[in-house]
Amino acid sequence: MAEAEDLKSSQYGFESRLPYHFQPLCARRNSGRMPGSQAEPRAMEKSQKSANSADSAQNPDQPILQATDSRTGRSYALPISDDTIPALALREIKVHEDDFGMLSFDPGLTNTVIGRSSICFIDGEKGILNYRGYPIESLAEHGTYLEIAWLVLHGELPTAAELDLFEAEIRAASVMPENIEKLIAALNPNMHPMSMLEVSLAALGGEFPEADDVHDPEVRHQQIIRLLALTPMLAAYGHRHRQGMGPIESKPELSYAGNFLHMLLGNQDREAAIPPALERALDALLILHAEHEQNCSANAVRAVGSSHVNPYSAVAAGAAALHGPLHGGANQAVLEMLEEINSIDDVPAFLESCKSGQRRLMGFGHRVYKNYDPRAKIIGQLAAGVFEIAGENPKLNIAQALEQTAIEDPYFRDRKLFPNVDFYSGLIYSAMGFQPSMFTVFFAVARMVGWLAHWDEMMSDPKNRIVRPRQIYTGYDRREWIPRNQR
Ligand code: ACO
Repeated sequence: MAEAEDLKSSQYGFESRLPYHFQPLCARRNSGRMPGSQAEPRAMEKSQKSANSADSAQNPDQPILQATDSRTGRSYALPISDDTIPALALREIKVHEDDFGMLSFDPGLTNTVIGRSSICFIDGEKGILNYRGYPIESLAEHGTYLEIAWLVLHGELPTAAELDLFEAEIRAASVMPENIEKLIAALNPNMHPMSMLEVSLAALGGEFPEADDVHDPEVRHQQIIRLLALTPMLAAYGHRHRQGMGPIESKPELSYAGNFLHMLLGNQDREAAIPPALERALDALLILHAEHEQNCSANAVRAVGSSHVNPYSAVAAGAAALHGPLHGGANQAVLEMLEEINSIDDVPAFLESCKSGQRRLMGFGHRVYKNYDPRAKIIGQLAAGVFEIAGENPKLNIAQALEQTAIEDPYFRDRKLFPNVDFYSGLIYSAMGFQPSMFTVFFAVARMVGWLAHWDEMMSDPKNRIVRPRQIYTGYDRREWIPRNQR
């Protein structure tokens, strides 16, 4: 029964038996909420210590969530840390001693914290995105992709010497294994370029068997460098194969974005003339897409990587997740949607079909942002610069009309649906001359560093466990086999 004494013994009794740990109150919880202030790393170390010393069942200051189970009348004290309760604490809640215990039900993992991460902070209500504490607006304005990649991976902006070394490592690793070149050449040229990328990323793992040693930080570092070097090459090889062209040699003396454009658009005899403004726009787009905490594809990388498979298989799974139209595939879907709308006059009718549930307004809405996606704002500005060079695109006017009408419409306003990163990015890639099917490939090249940072962070965490959720079973109870002639 819910006696005060039960509560007390539950509060200080079961906690010490549970296989979870009170963890440091480090930083804040991401994805739309920022409990506490943005502590400096030094301050966080301090709060970690004090939280660790509070890591005990005996601490009467431990905040708790008091819950009463109406089935039994028993009360429980669930420890609160960083605005979360440990899911395993629920398992103490039972009707009978031999019950499995209570679970939490969370389809889509919308309210489940899967781990601790210091890579990326998002406040979805306020429209804030920071990598390692630096606002995305400032990174896109001042940084280069490789500089930001280093930051995402290592937590600090690189010194000049660190950046030189990083660039040199990537240059040295820019050698495509011959087997992979042959593999791409053997693929159906009509295959979606994301499928080509998924296949070739997984196949790369077979070329570097030492990558299976995922517990060695130095081996992990080598694979991170290789994947950053080779992913744009895989993307370019796939693109050219679809165009009926062979690969072109990389020019590592160019910037990461410049070399990528060169490998995509150059030909054997002459270099592609890439206007510097387009190179800079691509560099900024790569930065904007580099990382986004526990999104669907990063979660796929983590889930697959938690089995300790090599990182090539893990990022191939990430690429597969990104391919879907509700995730990275949305930029392709936006362009296809804009193709369907003939003129601005058709915008109201199109939005009505979205509101009635016949379709979704692609490039709108986000699991985390309930405000303008900060990346969408920057991309809107980039688009203007690109169109100055590439010429006006009538689809831009339709996109702007869609945006304006939608954000004033109560359906979208009440559900807090705003343009996301994909609403305008496709228009820029299209202005650069790429087919919609290539858009998600650019996203994957950019996001590779975020996936790798999460994978490395997870592999460095001794508390990492294989990802294995639970289910509510809705099938039959045990049944007897029915002979074939009696079915
Ligand atoms: N168009 C119309 N209605 C929408 C849209 C949309 N784009 N997005 C959400 N809604 C509506 C839903 O129908 C639902 O309405 P209801 O409450 O009346 O049932 C409500 O808004 C909440 O939607 P959910 O599906 O619960 O939101 P969720 O967080 O699960 O989905 C998602 C987020 C997948 C991004 C969704 O907004 C969507 O499908 N957007 C279009 C696809 C897109 O642009 N994806 C790219 C996301 S950014 C990225 O991955 C890089």
